[in-house]
Amino acid sequence: MMSDTPLRLASRVGAISPSPTMAVMAEAMRLRAAGEDVVDFSAGQPDFDTPEIPSRAGIAAIESGYTRYTPNPGAPELRAAVAAAYRRDFGLEFGPANALITSGGKHALTGVFLATCEAGDEVVIPTPFWPTFPEQARIAGAEPILAPADAATNFRPTRAVVEPHVTDRTRVILLNVPGNPSGVVLDPGELDALAALASEAGAVLLWDDTYSRLTFEPAPEGAYRRMQEILGPRFVIAGSSSKTWAMTGWRVGWALGPEELIRGAAALQSQMTSNACSISQKAALAALEADPAEFQWMVRAFAARGRRMREGLLDIPGVRCGAPDGGFYLFPDFRDRLGPGEGSRSLAEALLDRERVATVPGVAFGHDTHLRLSFATSEARIEEGLARLRRFFAV
Ligand SMILES: Cc1ncc(COP(=O)(O)O)c(C=O)c1O
Repeated sequence: MMSDTPLRLASRVGAISPSPTMAVMAEAMRLRAAGEDVVDFSAGQPDFDTPEIPSRAGIAAIESGYTRYTPNPGAPELRAAVAAAYRRDFGLEFGPANALITSGGKHALTGVFLATCEAGDEVVIPTPFWPTFPEQARIAGAEPILAPADAATNFRPTRAVVEPHVTDRTRVILLNVPGNPSGVVLDPGELDALAALASEAGAVLLWDDTYSRLTFEPAPEGAYRRMQEILGPRFVIAGSSSKTWAMTGWRVGWALGPEELIRGAAALQSQMTSNACSISQKAALAALEADPAEFQWMVRAFAARGRRMREGLLDIPGVRCGAPDGGFYLFPDFRDRLGPGEGSRSLAEALLDRERVATVPGVAFGHDTHLRLSFATSEARIEEGLARLRRFFAV
């Protein structure tokens, strides 16, 4: 006879919110599956297919039987290639033992948070923030502390923004540049100041650099190297192959940091997921070792689309929107177009409902008068979406 004792779940399940960005994508997908013509500005991934260089390496991996476990922290050649790529691209000093290969950037963050944080610790997260950051801190038992940045500065997560929230319990200060959703990058002086703050606080500066190879101008010369000099072992990176090479489904990311942290995160990973997919590791290796110029066409396309989408948004009276330095998102402010009591969720719902334009409500990122719009879609869809927005706002 079946027991009628209710199934008891652990409290941590209720403490974590599922990804709100995924929820909007799911609704847009449902409408499209039902035959509706949805303009999808909610996508969190490139619309391009994975380029040939990593794709062919993946196929070659299967054909050559590279389909078994790799060492838990990743294939040695990939760990070396990740370290070398950060030297090439940012002048950073890491060796293979400083690199842990993970199943995506999200998983790299999990490893870093679990290896550095526990109950009683605080993680300072500038806003607007990618919704996974606070939840990841919570999974590790730490308390996320939000540090609101100012729309007037295009949400620059500077020392002035972060410092008022630093306490003696601060274990990690999170830096996501270019940011999702703001797209903003800091100047060298601002990066120095933030590194100095983390160093003085004895905190880890965790740079989520998922979009760092999708910047529209070259990286600030030597700036990340100076952060590493200031912070030493407290400078930690969580990175990903997902966006740079349109490889979201392949699931390869990495953490870079001091050996003891990497060993700790690797030990946790070894009991949770073993290694990242062997085939995908070969694909990521090929992408990392290729000349970055091979992939610049994607960056140029994003830059042009971002400019056009922003121009179109600014044509709508009352809409404000900062210019991104990288990535593929805009985070416009609709405060002057919201009705009384209306927030970003109802605006996003109305847009999807009336005009079949999918966006992500800004409340998910900590700012309830904004929407996140992704320009990882074709020029034609951007024009169509802008036309629908103009109609919606009766321009
Ligand atoms: C800021 C940021 N970090 C990390 C990730 C993780 O991506 P992935 O797990 O696909 O590597 C994303 C994905 O949207 C992101 O926007």
